[in-house]
Amino acid sequence: MLPILVMDAILLVLAILLIIAERILVTYGECRVTINKEKILTVTGGESLLSYFAQNKIFVPSACGGKATCGYCKVEVLSGGGHILPTEEVFIKREDRQKGLRLACQVKVKNDLEVLVSEDLLQAQEYKTKIATITDLTHDIKYIVMKLVEPQEISFKPGQYIQFRIPEAEEFRAYSIASPPSQKNTIELIVRLVPGGLCSSYIHEVLDVDDEITVTGPYGDFYLREDSEREIVCIGGGCGMAPIRSILFHSMGKGMPRKITYFFGARSKKDLFYTEELESIERSYQNFRYIPVLSEPKPDDKWTGETGFVTQAVERYLRSNGNTEAYLCGPPPMIDAALKVLTKKGVHEMHIYYDKF
Ligand SMILES: Cc1cc2nc3c(=O)[nH]c(=O)nc-3n(C[C@H](O)[C@H](O)[C@H](O)COP(=O)(O)OP(=O)(O)OC[C@H]3O[C@@H](n4cnc5c(N)ncnc54)[C@H](O)[C@@H]3O)c2cc1C
Ligand code: FES
Repeated sequence: MLPILVMDAILLVLAILLIIAERILVTYGECRVTINKEKILTVTGGESLLSYFAQNKIFVPSACGGKATCGYCKVEVLSGGGHILPTEEVFIKREDRQKGLRLACQVKVKNDLEVLVSEDLLQAQEYKTKIATITDLTHDIKYIVMKLVEPQEISFKPGQYIQFRIPEAEEFRAYSIASPPSQKNTIELIVRLVPGGLCSSYIHEVLDVDDEITVTGPYGDFYLREDSEREIVCIGGGCGMAPIRSILFHSMGKGMPRKITYFFGARSKKDLFYTEELESIERSYQNFRYIPVLSEPKPDDKWTGETGFVTQAVERYLRSNGNTEAYLCGPPPMIDAALKVLTKKGVHEMHIYYDKF
């Protein structure tokens, strides 16, 4: 019997030969991708639907760069897309599979295809920007201001995000807009360093003032519902501050009478930022309350505020009522815990909006 290592090597060589053979021998010829029954892209098949969208300036979001790990590139494929792949199954609910919902990054174009793309996504544009400011907010969070060069203005809803193109890597990552929509000529971002992360390391270690960066957007259905009169509860931590800051500044700018309570979770005092800014807003804007919560305050912090997980503070403070709407932004475990607390307090699932990151 051949040793396992030799077998593995043979399988690897065969797999590589198959990929090379497919590239050389298989040509899919000209394929037509019909979008929303009207726009037709004529492409030479072989690449993913997402690649053809990007080449034709249709900016479907792709927070993971096509690795099938973000689930953001969903479109409806009406015909020609083949079977759903195992990589897609985790993101596409059983009932949505009947409608033909697919991940555009996983659909390889081999023949003519008919797809439906939401009108919102068709509105997304590409923006050339120039970096105006980069400053440290904490030991691992930076604040970035991007000045729009072409086009010079962007319209978006408070809470939405853009995609940042990492120069030369042809990869995109999503970042929530931290500035309010009234600020049309600049986009502010709050970016946390993910150790070893491609884009956040680029932003923290390479990006410099005056650099030219392309972004696309706006995207996302996490945005302030302005047609509602419900009280607002925001829960976030770290860079999850970004979309909530946009929502808060927008609400203040509009003189919105709705009560807003913002629970901000951090480990210790060194992870807090914008504290003075938020406390000053609290003093001047009587509808706003800011509640920072530390899970591991250090003795040197001399912390006298709320402690524990941010969701425990929500449980302590939030009155039970059905007249609340919640905006959550942060890591998946925090969002999941917050969903449980909020529904227990009588906040209707339909009125809870979140972005997990
Ligand atoms: C809608 C949306 C809005 C977002 N808004 C913001 C924002 O305002 N500010 C911000 O800083 N980030 C935000 N993100 C996250 C951002 O898009 C990137 O995922 C993040 O910056 C990491 O990218 P990277 O290229 O540095 O890491 P990658 O190279 O993609 O990942 C490197 C490694 O780190 C892991 N990893 C990736 N993300 C995280 C994470 N968040 N925590 C721990 N490990 C991780 C990956 O699994 C991988 O193993 C948002 C994400 C989404 C989907
Ligand atoms: S681009 Fe992330 S799942 Fe398709």
